[in-house]
Amino acid sequence: MLSRLSETKMSHAFVRAMNSGLIGEADTAILFYDLSHLRERIEDLISLFPKSALHAVAVKANSLTKILTEIKTFDAGLEAASLPELFLAEHAGFPPEQIVFDSPVKTVQEIAYALNLGVHINADSFAELERVSELQKQKPSKSPVGVRINPQVGTGTILSTSVAGEYSKFGIPMKSHREAIAECFLKYDWLRGVHIHIGSQGCEPALLMKGIETVLMFVNETNERLRRAGLQRRIDIFDIGGGLPVSYHRDKEPFQMSQYKEEIKFRFPDLFTDKFKLITEFGRYIHANTGWTASRVEYVKEEQHVRTAMIHVGADMFLRKCYRPEDWHHEISVLDSKGNIKTGKDEKKYIVVGPLCFAGDMIAREIDLPKVEPGDYMVIHDTGAYTLSMWSRYNSRQIPKVLGYYEDGEKFEILRERESLSTLWEFWS
Ligand code: LLP
Repeated sequence: MLSRLSETKMSHAFVRAMNSGLIGEADTAILFYDLSHLRERIEDLISLFPKSALHAVAVKANSLTKILTEIKTFDAGLEAASLPELFLAEHAGFPPEQIVFDSPVKTVQEIAYALNLGVHINADSFAELERVSELQKQKPSKSPVGVRINPQVGTGTILSTSVAGEYSKFGIPMKSHREAIAECFLKYDWLRGVHIHIGSQGCEPALLMKGIETVLMFVNETNERLRRAGLQRRIDIFDIGGGLPVSYHRDKEPFQMSQYKEEIKFRFPDLFTDKFKLITEFGRYIHANTGWTASRVEYVKEEQHVRTAMIHVGADMFLRKCYRPEDWHHEISVLDSKGNIKTGKDEKKYIVVGPLCFAGDMIAREIDLPKVEPGDYMVIHDTGAYTLSMWSRYNSRQIPKVLGYYEDGEKFEILRERESLSTLWEFWS
């Protein structure tokens, strides 16, 4: 069973990093990644699904190049949601067969580039299929091509990351276009795959399964039509997307990939036979629980009923938590200046704020914490996915140093140095 990292393990790694001289005075915030945990997550995923499956880990969840190259060592692939992400995947050394290109707004040049490279492409609309068709006529490509279908099975608890409601900006809606999608499979001899993605966090596995069920019915129906039309080909690639939710709460049991896989295999056994090549695109499940962030408490402001702990990361890295606090959660621990876990509960509640110049820069509101003092470190749990990758440039704060470690800190690797002021200058130039 894969669980979240414990406070004790984080404190252990923090002390080791400190004792190894990896946390300098300027490192007011440090991002940590447990690379042993990352390995466990990916190995677990690979071991569960058929050998032929392609596990294209979502680059957008965590785009650090050293993490991408780490992923490569496990024989997993990458899902790129933009041309620059495709560039990252190529430069990290992934072969085209292990890359899935998914952007919803691909230009003709981008499609041509991807077709030329031979990566798997998921088209997002009829218009995009038409563009692929034109390019295929000019120069046939060996890229496997799929089409993204919105199975319209409903939304999860977080609207901004739910993409399978009646309306979605992504994919082709199934209800109103079932026949037209089927006709594309009859018309285009290079079209082999279907792609779905239901949402990211907030969508129960049952909803994800409903998406698979809806599209698998369509696939079986269409394959029968292809057979009756005397065509040799069939839909043989099924991309189930990502979206398995992770636990951000201390007391909430996380969903296990093994359970999800068992349910898929039990209900849709065909997907586990050689009739289909499966593609997965998990991001959050791979990364969220492998990373955490420590930031020094610079000041503690006293009010009558509440204390405000002021730290060095805020809405620049925790965009969602600051702008949609009711949708997102991170557990927070407190370490003293030497890295030991602080325990107990202060008599006052705490507001934890970042350094940015606006009132909403709050990563926790009125929570219980042990007594916090300047010089302590706030540890924000489960920051491995969609945090650094969503970094905002507001106030030009420097991106913190990123440390990777193995075995609770027996071995460290700097995944990214703290951003320099000259790089910052380049960014704005
Ligand atoms: N595949 C596609 C087509 C996606 O759009 C996504 C996520 C994934 C895979 C990976 O989903 P995961 O397994 O990581 O849940 N915090 C961000 C989340 C956006 C996710 C977008 N797509 C945000 O609030 O914007």
